[in-house]
Amino acid sequence: MSSKNDSEVPGKPKRGVSRRGFIRGAGIGGGVLGAGILDKKALAAPAAEGRFVGPGAVPITLKINGKPQTLNLEPRVTLLDALRNQLELTGAKRVCDRATCGACTVIINGKSVYSCTVLAIDAQGKDIQTIEGISSGKPHPVSEAFVDKDGQQCGYCTPGFVMAAKAFLDHNPNPTYEEVKEGLCGNLCRCGTYVGVRQAVLEAAKEMKGGNHA
Ligand code: FES
Ligand code: FES
Repeated sequence: MSSKNDSEVPGKPKRGVSRRGFIRGAGIGGGVLGAGILDKKALAAPAAEGRFVGPGAVPITLKINGKPQTLNLEPRVTLLDALRNQLELTGAKRVCDRATCGACTVIINGKSVYSCTVLAIDAQGKDIQTIEGISSGKPHPVSEAFVDKDGQQCGYCTPGFVMAAKAFLDHNPNPTYEEVKEGLCGNLCRCGTYVGVRQAVLEAAKEMKGGNHA
């Protein structure tokens, strides 16, 4: 009788789904908040374009906050790690690192996305917006409303909430309280600031009406 489990037998595939396999399968669409990322079909999706690169670093170009950024990264690096560790854009936070909390939320092509679920290499050719890019000169109305309505305590979840709220309001400019609650259900706050956050989003909605914001 062998003492090895299946994952230790040479040549036998490991059970379950690896972190990299999960990210590859989920892709950018899988990271979109509320998109059902644990759906089995998403996990089984083939690697994008069937082209294999790496495992060493390769040059990639990301369009972040309107500017192209060229990096040398291993293909396994997530967008979150590229932002934080290579570009020093540390607004997006790493908390769960597995598509649960929303602290790493950025906006990709107009949709809020967990950046911990996206490989940086797969984010090429997309418009990536981070918390650092939404305030040009003065705070974005969503950020201001979070301050006015006391929508944060420790603040660790706040950049993710602000980005999720911005993407939500861009698509739903006149939300009800219930719609805000549902629209931001992909973000968690351990300090329990949900009431302030929802009030902030409603206030930002009023402020942004008719406005032209980044
Ligand atoms: S760190 Fe990405 S969802 Fe929690
Ligand atoms: S303010 Fe502390 S986790 Fe949300």
